[in-house]
Amino acid sequence: MISSQMGDRDQAIMDALPEAPVTPAADALEGWRSGVVYQVYPRSFSDTDGDGVGDLAGILDHLDYLNDGSPDSLGIDAIWLSPIYPSAGFDSGYDVSDYSAIDRIFGTLSDFERLVAEAHRRGIRVILDLVLNHTSHLHPWFVESRASRTGLRSDWYIWRDPAGYSPAGRPRRPNNWVSFFGGPAWTWDATREQFYLHTFLPQQPDLNWRNPAVRAAVLEIIRTWLDRGVDGFRFDVFNAFFKHADLPSNPYRLGGRRAYSRQVHLYDKNQPELVELLAEIRQIVDELPGRMTVGELFEGSVRQAAAYTAPGHLIFDFSLIRQPWSARAFARAIAEREAAFGPGGWPTIVLSNHDQSRSASRYDDGPHGDARVKVAATLLLTLRGTPFLYYGEEIGLRDVAVPWAEIQDPAARRSRFLSSWWNRDQARAPMPWGLGPNAGFSTARPWLRMSPESATRNVASQTADPRSVLSYYRRLIWLRRSRSALSVGSYEAVGIGDASVFAYLRRAADQAALVVLGFGRRAVTVALPESPSGRPWRAILSTHDPLPPAGDRLELRPLEAVIFVDD
Ligand code: GLC
Repeated sequence: MISSQMGDRDQAIMDALPEAPVTPAADALEGWRSGVVYQVYPRSFSDTDGDGVGDLAGILDHLDYLNDGSPDSLGIDAIWLSPIYPSAGFDSGYDVSDYSAIDRIFGTLSDFERLVAEAHRRGIRVILDLVLNHTSHLHPWFVESRASRTGLRSDWYIWRDPAGYSPAGRPRRPNNWVSFFGGPAWTWDATREQFYLHTFLPQQPDLNWRNPAVRAAVLEIIRTWLDRGVDGFRFDVFNAFFKHADLPSNPYRLGGRRAYSRQVHLYDKNQPELVELLAEIRQIVDELPGRMTVGELFEGSVRQAAAYTAPGHLIFDFSLIRQPWSARAFARAIAEREAAFGPGGWPTIVLSNHDQSRSASRYDDGPHGDARVKVAATLLLTLRGTPFLYYGEEIGLRDVAVPWAEIQDPAARRSRFLSSWWNRDQARAPMPWGLGPNAGFSTARPWLRMSPESATRNVASQTADPRSVLSYYRRLIWLRRSRSALSVGSYEAVGIGDASVFAYLRRAADQAALVVLGFGRRAVTVALPESPSGRPWRAILSTHDPLPPAGDRLELRPLEAVIFVDD
């Protein structure tokens, strides 16, 4: 079980581990604070049926890798699955055509039930991605809605008459709103002779959340999946569900590369009705203990994130993703988050996801290989908040360049004409597991190209290497599981007197941990603050070998992260 190459560092962690893995906290919701969530992008995780696309059986095959109860596994507490429902495929599953079923490409409902049962057997919870701002244009609701102005579902989407006609007889759009993916947010429908609204693609019409029938239908979907045993939901672009009832034009602002950023989004999202809707959703979710929800804050501030956070309900804000590689920048961003959330609020920690350039690429610093990746891992897993780890992040997977002819991301394909857009395929490369065709991902040609590093940067080779990013993640996550100061503890920034170092103290009732993160290329000597217990700080994990000696001074090596305890 435990690698025979175990060094001092590993021994220190093993000493710190309790006899048995820590199970989620007794208070079921508290478990969502201490736990680590792992985002699976199902298309890219593991393909078992040989069609080049990942599937549910592939996820099942790797549950032991994610957590088999031993520190040889990654040790995560929950998986969030990007959408697995039937979809017309215009936005890689974020255009759902049936919310209650499983897309054939991923498997069947019984595959899903098996996955949930097997995940639960290992103490892994399952979170589904619900895309409720919009449906696919091929969803029967929209097909019916666009058929007539008087039908049963005519008011299920946001339809508007034109704001007059041009001299040439062309209908004018109801307001100035633009799509996040480029172009206007309104598409003309010749049958109804009206426009419909779409915050994203024309193939993703926005639901009318002000219609009680829509609300009831969606809440029913939530109940269906709860009945099938899921433990929580991620709500896609949660803060965009409601638009201002009168649909006024947004004010313009200067700057911004894309038309979307040249508007102040006063009226097309963040409407007050959201708070009451959240309460209604939570009521349903809370009928079962320990169910969580997390809302994706679509282009919002840290303060908005804090305001929408509620018991059992977390919010993704992407402020940390935007930070450059700088101790000061992170310290400042975290100070802002801590101020917004306050000690009672609970943020999320996200450095990567399926929409953004991977953190290992953003921080890539060629000559230093994975040194920054390990410092970033330490940050992700020791800040105050629930960490969300994106598949592949644990092996330092980089973005993969995808030539134009192979681009799948519709927003990127459109961008040539409508807006500049970062091709999200780059962050969605198939997971390299080890040897074999396509690094063990699939026997067929993968739906997206593999990373050119797959032969060397993969799960098997990193498992065998105690100094790999993966081995470091495993140690870090199991250490976090064993120390409540690191998971649920309070946070306090520590001034350490060097601009290239970011340090903070985490404290729970009876224990403390000091985290020191070196962002710089130079070695520096820093003075450690006095420990709460008065005993000298003792290093229990470092990105470097050997562990620094105990004491009140630390000779921090270039790009070194160290975790100290004082017990
Ligand atoms: C969210 C998803 C993204 C998707 C968009 C529209 O931002 O994360 O992948 O394209 O919503 O559903």
